[in-house]
Amino acid sequence: MVTQMKERLEQIEKEASEALAAVVAAKDLEAIRLRFLGRKGELTAVLRGMLSLSPEERPAAGLLVNEARGRVEGLFAKVESVLAAKALEERIASETLDITLPGLRPAIGRRHPITLATDAISEVFLGMGYEIAEGPDIELDRFNFEMLNIPKGHPARDVQDSFFIDDNIVLRTHTSPVQVRAMLTRELPIRIICPGRTFRIDELDATHSPVFYQIEGLVVDVGVTMGDLIGTLKIFAESVFGKDTQIRLRPHHFQFTEPSAEVDVTCWECGGKGCRVCKFEGFVELLGAGMVNPKVLSMCGVDPDVYSGFAFGLGIERVALCKYNISSLRLLYENDIRFLQQG
Ligand code: DAH
Repeated sequence: MVTQMKERLEQIEKEASEALAAVVAAKDLEAIRLRFLGRKGELTAVLRGMLSLSPEERPAAGLLVNEARGRVEGLFAKVESVLAAKALEERIASETLDITLPGLRPAIGRRHPITLATDAISEVFLGMGYEIAEGPDIELDRFNFEMLNIPKGHPARDVQDSFFIDDNIVLRTHTSPVQVRAMLTRELPIRIICPGRTFRIDELDATHSPVFYQIEGLVVDVGVTMGDLIGTLKIFAESVFGKDTQIRLRPHHFQFTEPSAEVDVTCWECGGKGCRVCKFEGFVELLGAGMVNPKVLSMCGVDPDVYSGFAFGLGIERVALCKYNISSLRLLYENDIRFLQQG
């Protein structure tokens, strides 16, 4: 009986080794493992067969089966390591990196013209020692109007048709509320600019948009004069529009400055000779400015008998259109990639 079993074991080992020799991929191994080593496999069947042996014969037979199992397992391990080495080699061969190939060029974005203009303007003022201040897009009515000397019911509120959230909260109609915030929170003297988004009820066309950008400027110190304002704006205009740019002040009215002016610069299209862009004026309106109204200073806790200040506010789109020769405001907001890629 034991001899018979021995022969059977030898046969199983032979079959296993033949089956393994034919294996080309690791995925084929499992079926063979089940066939020979599995719980319902050939070797287990031989073990079961031991039940028909006499009790004396069993230990020797058990040993034989275990030795055979050990050898078969050894065969499996060998084949597995050969297959693993082969797989690694194939991977190394297939994943080689040809460093002479041209790389994939990442798509690089460009700065939006509004950002370019904002940066160009900010650069000039940072160079003169200004700091950048910020305020929220959603503003208190108190800061947007009230403390800038534009009380409820005042006609100046109508020209800035506003998006109200409720009675007290509004999408800021200009960056001027940052003046108030700066005076309430900063130490004097103050020298800030604030670039930011502003909102007014308007249809989008070539020159209007319900969302637009402004830069506010504010200087508060002892002895600040209109001369300082004019000198500052002249430097700004020359730096942004070129050395030969002139500025021109026209008297105007703003609630929060006194006196106030609208400030024009030499027409960038015709250099002052007169053309369609400047309506044959030679100048183009660019910003509003003035000496901070003493009432505003007081409301913001600054003593107007000691301090004075100037402020200005300009539309960034205007600057972007002229500086980058863009024909319509719409182009700035349409997000047409062909336009933006020209930057
Ligand atoms: N806030 C004004 C507007 O949006 C512009 C302006 C005018 C700002 C005069 C100022 C200023 O700081 O002094 O029309």
